[in-house]
Amino acid sequence: MHLTLSKPGLMRTGNFIAGQWHEAAEGTALVVTNPANNEPIARVPDSGAAAARAAVDAAHAAFPAWKKTPAKVRAQCLKRWNDLVLSHQEDLGRLISREQGKPLAEGIGEVAYAASYIEWFAEEATRANGDIIPAPVPGRRMFALREPVGVVAAVTPWNFPAAMIARKIAPALAAGCTVVCKPAEDTPLTSLALVALAAEAGVPPGVLNIVTASRERTPEVVDVWLADARVRKITFTGSTPVGKHLARRSADTLKKLSLELGGNAPFIVFEDADIKAAVDGLMAAKFRNGGQTCVCPNRVFVHDAVYASFSDLLVRRVAELRVGPASDEASQIGPMINARAVEKIERHVQDAVSRGAGVLTGGKRLPALGDNYYAPTVLADVDATMACASEETFGPVAPLTRFGDEAEVIAQANDTPFGLAAYFYSRDVRRIWRVADALESGIVGINEGAISAEAAPFGGVKDSGYGREGSAHGLDDYLHTKYLCQGQLD
Ligand code: SIN
Repeated sequence: MHLTLSKPGLMRTGNFIAGQWHEAAEGTALVVTNPANNEPIARVPDSGAAAARAAVDAAHAAFPAWKKTPAKVRAQCLKRWNDLVLSHQEDLGRLISREQGKPLAEGIGEVAYAASYIEWFAEEATRANGDIIPAPVPGRRMFALREPVGVVAAVTPWNFPAAMIARKIAPALAAGCTVVCKPAEDTPLTSLALVALAAEAGVPPGVLNIVTASRERTPEVVDVWLADARVRKITFTGSTPVGKHLARRSADTLKKLSLELGGNAPFIVFEDADIKAAVDGLMAAKFRNGGQTCVCPNRVFVHDAVYASFSDLLVRRVAELRVGPASDEASQIGPMINARAVEKIERHVQDAVSRGAGVLTGGKRLPALGDNYYAPTVLADVDATMACASEETFGPVAPLTRFGDEAEVIAQANDTPFGLAAYFYSRDVRRIWRVADALESGIVGINEGAISAEAAPFGGVKDSGYGREGSAHGLDDYLHTKYLCQGQLD
């Protein structure tokens, strides 16, 4: 199905290297499809090692000049990029919804979320201050300067095709780094459109390069970047096994790493919670992007005393969710990204039911809509033996587990190798601080389900990775500290 954009130049279908677009060579294209109906949308290059090397050559050549460009000029460039992204918000939102499947309102909302990172890091660019250190001996002056790490390789996910690339590339450019990027194979078009706007904003040739590749050929591209000592940092959002692979393989060239990996977020509703607020929070956190976010609650623990009232209200709200394609503006839950995603959700629900869980609503595919749709689901009486309690479902399934006391639920919440996000609802201020301290998680939502913001440090602990995106910490990840010691001054 054809997608009409008010700025047709945003529909880019080539690699962008050293300021030039390179279309797919004959017979080597990756077909991008609409998950709502599996129809093709566009063809982009299925790149390999040669394109990956050319991108690093360009980024390496552009680095010295970009590093020396005054921070204020880099900031102005990012501000123009931000303005262009916002002035094409509707087009970009349509592109996101078409290739990723999220409802149009969410697609348009994601563009504003992406722009908020660009604007934030435009402002942070001019604040990469160093330190003047009081010298411990006479006749010396000591300084700590902050310098860009160099060429950054960004490998971005499909679930937020605009926001994740913005929150990696904007801090890199703000810090004075140059970038090579490989967007997710399912959603390259939004990334290419963003890169086109960055070039229009004045990002110089070679500073930002992007190559697309299929799932099968991605290792070829990434292996080149892992082996190349000129690439000084990898930033990756995706699965924990891939993150660990990147960490192992980048050891030989000791690259700096930011890894935003899998999650298994607990969502705890204590007996003293405001139940309506807790249901609102779960709806916002769990069903955003159809449950396909790394910070989605994956395990919902509800105190015995409020289990019935919480689950009744939740089921009513979930059953009202409207499922459909992004082309229907009333849709609140779109298709899942692909067939594998639906298979995983189905496996988790079937496994839970076979082990004694009940389906309170949903629990099935929606074939009348298409192959990639799954009904928003609430499961009751889920326990730790079920696959959905230990694996990230990444779909619209809320599994409810009862608990009786605080210590028991904290132990259960922490009983996972992951630690990206956690949420809890309580009105007891002493409990709030106790539980917030005890949760092993990089992010904690307290009486709040919408925790993401450009001003906040986003990232995990344990198997959810390391490094932070957003906030002032997000710039630090692209800088290193250089110590200058000047002597003979007395
Ligand atoms: C993610 O799912 O990786 C990002 C979600 C967010 O930024 O809120």
